Amino acid sequence: MTHISRNPVLVTLGALALLAGCTPADSPQAGRDLYTQNCATCHGATGQGGAQVPNLTTLAQRYGGTYPQAMVLDKLDGYARGQNAYTGAEMPEFGHLLIGRLTRVQTGRGVSRPLPERIVALDAYLHSIQQ
Ligand code: HEC
Repeated sequence: MTHISRNPVLVTLGALALLAGCTPADSPQAGRDLYTQNCATCHGATGQGGAQVPNLTTLAQRYGGTYPQAMVLDKLDGYARGQNAYTGAEMPEFGHLLIGRLTRVQTGRGVSRPLPERIVALDAYLHSIQQ
């Protein structure tokens, strides 16, 4: 009889489950990858922004000391269309990010909102890079 932990197939499956568990689709780590693929061209590799593109590491500082989660979520899911923080340049819409599984986000005391995991991941990542 082979002990369960000596079975290479089960060990591999266990390792995969652990890996998957470490980076849920709505985690900051997943958000960092999405950021690199979709946002870094404009907002910079580390979120520092540019001439006409806002710095995303100073959101909390610039919004009265609290990370503006509602604004970020609105910006990303398109609800904030037309409410530009800066004039002249436009933030593109990321409709394709809407495709995918939904998850619930706490947006206030006792209030939650269903949002695509990828938007939640981006929000979590941006929250994690505040100065
Ligand atoms: C084509 C360039 C471009 C890309 C790509 C881009 N942005 Fe932006 N973003 C902008 C510009 C320009 C603004 C300022 C105008 C506005 O608020 O719409 C902005 C504004 C924002 C704001 C509001 C900032 C503030 O200070 O109010 C957030 C949050 C943001 N972007 C996040 C993201 C995220 C996350 C991604 C990737 C999914 C992304 N952006 C991709 C150009 C871009």
